[in-house]
This record gives sequence, C-alpha cells and structure tokens, in this order.
Amino acid sequence: MTRMEKTPVMGDGLPPELIELLGPGVEVLPWDASVGSPALARAVGLITYGHPVVDGPLLDRAPQLKVVSNHGVGVDHIDLPAAEMRRIPVGNTPGCLDAATADMTLALLLAAARNVVVGDRFAHSPEFTHYDPSILIGREVTGATLGIIGLGRIGRQVARRARAFDMRVLYHNRHRDAAAESELGVAWAAFDDLLAASDFITLNCPLTPATTGLISTAAFARMKPTAILVNVARGPVVDSDALYAALSARQIAAAALDVTDPEPLPRGHKLLGLPNLIITPHLGSAADRTRRRMQEMTVENLRAGLVGRELPWRVRPPVKGAAS
Ligand code: DGY
Repeated sequence: MTRMEKTPVMGDGLPPELIELLGPGVEVLPWDASVGSPALARAVGLITYGHPVVDGPLLDRAPQLKVVSNHGVGVDHIDLPAAEMRRIPVGNTPGCLDAATADMTLALLLAAARNVVVGDRFAHSPEFTHYDPSILIGREVTGATLGIIGLGRIGRQVARRARAFDMRVLYHNRHRDAAAESELGVAWAAFDDLLAASDFITLNCPLTPATTGLISTAAFARMKPTAILVNVARGPVVDSDALYAALSARQIAAAALDVTDPEPLPRGHKLLGLPNLIITPHLGSAADRTRRRMQEMTVENLRAGLVGRELPWRVRPPVKGAAS
C-alpha cells in the first residue's frame, strides 16, 4: 500500500458518525461475505455492526485481515476460537452499554406490567371515550419479586434499579457472587426456585451453549401464572415455540422481548399475533450517549488492531471447562 492509499475496512450499514470517527484514511467497503468477495480479499479490518456472522470460512476469505471490531458487547455471532486460531484479535464494547440496557430492561418490565403498549393503542383508538377505572389493571411492580438470570454487569445494574422499586431481588448464576449479594442486597436462587418464586423474570445473560433454549417448556411450567418474562439478552435464550405455547395458554401472564429467535420474526409469525407480548427491535443499548461511546470503542479497537497493538477491549474465546 502506498501512503496515499486508504485502509480498506469492511462493515455494513455504518452510520455517518461512525464513518466520521474512522476518518478520511479509511475506505469503508460494504459487507460482502460471499465466496470470491473482492471486499473480503482486500479488507484489513472488519467492523461487525448489527451482528453479521463471522466464522472460519469467512475469515479464510480475508487473507489480509488484522482485526475484527464488534460494535456491541455480545459476540455470539463471531466464532472466537476460529479467529484466535488465525491470530486475528476480536474487540467488543463492554461496560458502556450496561446502564442503557438495564434501563431498557426496566422499561419493558414496566410496560408489560402496566399495559403501556396496549393502553397507548387504546388511547389512540375511537373506543376511548371516557376514563374507566376498571380497565387495563396491571401488576404491581413495587414490592414484587424480581428474578434476574445472569447477574453480570448488566444484571447488576438491573438489580440496582429494582431496589428503587423496593423489589426483592433473586438472581441465578452458575456460581454465587458473595460480593454482589452484600453490595446489592440480592439473593442467589437455584434456577427452578427462581422461576417459581419470581413475579418478574429478566434475562440478562450472554448467549452460550448453556443458555441456548434455557427458557424451555419445562421452565415455563415452573413459573407463576402471573409471571412476566423480559428478554433483553439474545433471542435463542428463549425457546420461541415454548414461549408461544405459554403465552397463548396464559401459563404465564405476559412477556416483553427486545430480542427474538429468529430476529426479526418473519412477518406473520405466530408470536406477532399475541396480545400479551411486547416486542421491541433490539433497542437495549440504543441510547444516544451509549451509542456514541460504542462507536468510539469500536474505532479504538479497530485502530489498535490495524497497527498490531493490543486491543483496549479484546474478547478471548472461553477457556474450556472454566467456571463462569
Ligand atoms: C450488544 O451489545 O451485544 C447489543 O446486543 C448490541 O449489539
């Protein structure tokens, strides 16, 4: 490459602010993962924006690649061992989105509990002719029991917010977190016990082989008939068919999903017709300050990888058999 040549980086749908952060020295190539892709053949960096799949075969089609920089914290769409094997560092954006994602968790919990979405539709309709105290009676959030599945960075922020609602907070991780228990006043519960005791259950865990399909028919059978499930993690943590069965039979009261499996749901999908299900289009971290920081971290990781420096936020593949 001569000094005048721009650095080719492949990334799809990048917003103008992110392109501006990359600077004039970067040529953004539209995402093309196909066999024989000229973009992949040239790319020295990949920005994964909006979760395109990055696997071993794709990496093999990118012989110049020095770094994969993911916009977001979850990297379940990237084959980390395949990247590690090829000595390609992968970066992500942890931490900066914890508060925004926890806010969204509470937003969905409150919306489902207090009929915000159905109430909005009703208030816009001609049927709303007078104030009627007997309609759309929701569930009390204050003082209720919240079960958090995945007390990581985001789950902890959810717990902090729940305290402001005087909620009793249970959590389930594979291992107890004594520091979190004393700091946040939360109590560990076995998975089945948490499901049975909670009025609200929020999913704040990463998608891993252990969490795929975690909320199954058996899990729904453990929940209270008044329970409300909130998923801001990843769609496949919940078995969509089991969710449909549980909601349509009113085995649980309601659910609110920021992520679905598949995502998006095909138009006409049976889940889209349920009155007791709220769906938002993956907005967990979609808040202005958070987005800005995610973009900055994405660019910082990319820049470091391009010059062979250690990435400020590098993700490594999980060590087999390690406790989490
Ligand atoms: C994340 O950070 O993982 C969000 O899902 C956005 O990608």
